[in-house]
Amino acid sequence: MPIALITGVAGQDGSYLAQLLLSKGYEVHGIVRRSSMLSRGRLEQMHDGTHEGTLQLHYGDLDDPIGLVRLMQTIAPDEVYHLAAQSHVQVSFDMPDYTGSVTGLGTMRLLEAIRVSGVPARFYQASSSEMFGASPPPQNEDTKFHPRSPYGVAKVYAYWATVNYRESYGMFASNGILFNHESPRRGENFVTRKITKGVAAILAGQQEKLHLGNLDAKRDWGFAGDYVEGMWRMLQHHQPDDFVVATGEAHSVREFCELAFGRAGLDYEQYVVVDERYFRPAEVDYLLGDPSKATRELGWTPATTFADLVSMMVDADRAVLGA
Ligand code: NAP
Ligand code: GDD
Repeated sequence: MPIALITGVAGQDGSYLAQLLLSKGYEVHGIVRRSSMLSRGRLEQMHDGTHEGTLQLHYGDLDDPIGLVRLMQTIAPDEVYHLAAQSHVQVSFDMPDYTGSVTGLGTMRLLEAIRVSGVPARFYQASSSEMFGASPPPQNEDTKFHPRSPYGVAKVYAYWATVNYRESYGMFASNGILFNHESPRRGENFVTRKITKGVAAILAGQQEKLHLGNLDAKRDWGFAGDYVEGMWRMLQHHQPDDFVVATGEAHSVREFCELAFGRAGLDYEQYVVVDERYFRPAEVDYLLGDPSKATRELGWTPATTFADLVSMMVDADRAVLGA
C-alpha cells in the first residue's frame, strides 16, 4: 500500500485529495494544526468506513522545521503533497511577513525535511496561477511570472525552491500550477463561495445585500475534485516536471454573480453592492490557463463545466440553510 503525506489536509484541496488517495487504497497521513478544528469538518466523511485506505492525522506546522523532519522520519512517505499555505491573496497584503514565512519559506523547510531525513519521497508543490499576475492571458508553463501580491511573491519563491531541489539533489519534485478551483468546501472568504453562500442567506432572509469588490476581474474557475486528480497524475508521471492545470475558459466575477443568483431565480443587480473595502492594492485582472501540456502528457482534462460548478455550489449552500 503506497504511503502519502498531505500538508493542509484539512483545507479544500486536502480533503478532496485524501478522498481520492483513500479510494486508491493509499495509507494517507495528514498534517493538521491544533487550530484546524473548524476546517476539520471537511474530513468527517472520510471516516465513514467506505474507503479502502486509511487516514491518520498528525499535528505539525510549517513554522516548525524540526517537527517536519520528525514527521518525515516517522511516516516515511512515498509521496508528499504540499498543499498547506496562507492561501488568501487579500489577507497576504495585511500579513505579508507571515505569508512569506508560511507559504514561501515553509515550502523550503518541507523540502529540506525530506532531504535531511533521506526519505526518497516524490514531492508535489501547490503552485498557483497567481504567480502569473500581470502577465497577459493565456498563461502556460512558459509564461513569465509577474506576481501582484505578497502571496504571489511567496508562491514564486516556493516554485523555484521546488525546481532547485529537483536540479540540486535529483529529487522527484514537481510544480502543479493550478488556476482557481472551487467547490462547496471552498473557504467562505473566497469570492465564489462568498457569492453562493450570500445567495443562500438572501433566500433564507438572513441577509439583504452582498458586498463585493472588483466585479470585472476574470478567472479560469474549475472544480477542485477534478484538479486533485491532476496532482496525483503528476506524481505518477515518469519524470518530475511542471504543469498548468486549468479549464481554458475564463469568466468575470460579474458573470459568476449573474449565474449564481440566476440559479436561485434572482437578479444579482438588485443585491450586489460594490464595496471598496474589498478592492486590493494591486489586482490580477485576467487569468486564463492553457492546460494543453497536462492533457498531452498526463491525459488530464477537466470534467465539470463552469455552469455545473456554479449550480453545485449554490445548491449545496441552499441545502445547508434549507433555502
Ligand atoms: P485552503 O483551503 O486555504 O487550505 C490550506 C491549508 O493549509 C489549511 O488546511 C490550513 O490549515 C493549512 N495551513 C495554513 N498554514 C499552515 C501552517 N503554518 N502549517 C500547517 N498547515 C497550515 O487552500 P486550498 O484552496 O485547499 O489550496 C491548497 C493549496 O493550493 C494552497 O497552497 C493554495 O495556496 C494552493 N492553490 C490553491 C488554488 C485554489 O484555487 N484553491 C489555486 C492554486 C493554488 P488550517 O485548517 O489549520 O487553517
Ligand atoms: N475574496 C474576494 N472577496 N474576492 C473578491 C471579492 C470579495 O468580496 N470581490 C471581488 N473579488 C475578486 C478579487 O479581487 C479577485 O480578482 C477575484 O475576485 C478572485 O478572488 P478570490 O476568490 O479571493 O481568489 P484569488 O484569485 O485572489 O486567489 C485564489 O486563486 C489563486 C489561483 O489563482 C486563491 O485560491 C489562491 O490561493 C490561489 O492561488
